[in-house]
Amino acid sequence: MNTTKKTVKDYIRTIVDFPHEGILFRDVTTLFADPRGFRMCIDQLLHPYAGERIDKVVGLEARGFIIGGAIAHQLSVGFVPIRKKGKLPGKTLAQAYKLEYGEAIMEVHDDAVQPGEKVLVVDDLLATGGTAEAGIKLLEQMGADIIGCAFIIDLPDLGGRKRLEALGMDVEVLCE
Ligand code: PRP
Ligand code: ADE
Repeated sequence: MNTTKKTVKDYIRTIVDFPHEGILFRDVTTLFADPRGFRMCIDQLLHPYAGERIDKVVGLEARGFIIGGAIAHQLSVGFVPIRKKGKLPGKTLAQAYKLEYGEAIMEVHDDAVQPGEKVLVVDDLLATGGTAEAGIKLLEQMGADIIGCAFIIDLPDLGGRKRLEALGMDVEVLCE
């Protein structure tokens, strides 16, 4: 075991120029692959919500599924995926959004969350906030009560946290 790694951030590596030149890609696979790092990450993401009612955990594709599944299991609640267009088989709601590098559409099954359910939104990384905002808009259309949005990494220069806070969201991040 590598004992030099003390914080969640220590387990994340940065890949230069992926997927495009100029992007410093934060690679969380190294965090997820380490049992101590992964457990620390899940425990710390959950910490701010201790004692709060959470009915469902919502994960944003794709890495939000990994942490969202683990958090939902830990809380013994259901997990809801918000996916890129064309992946969900049932009737969906759709929301277009812009990325740090590109554009896309997010979808959710229209019966995945009931009005008034308390949901926690999770993803690995907050950049511009476009992905999370699309997820929030979908959940709000379904009448969800979003208790918070939790991310492993925030890239503050890209303004995502301010964007989500301007929507009235409580935003928690583990590192920058
Ligand atoms: C990454 C990341 C977030 C999103 C953050 O996903 O996992 O979901 O970008 O960017 P934003 O705050 O500017 O919207 P990506 O779009 O690379 O998709 P993937 O997880 O399916 O690879
Ligand atoms: N998604 C958007 N920007 C990213 C980055 N710099 N690293 C990893 N995922 C990202």
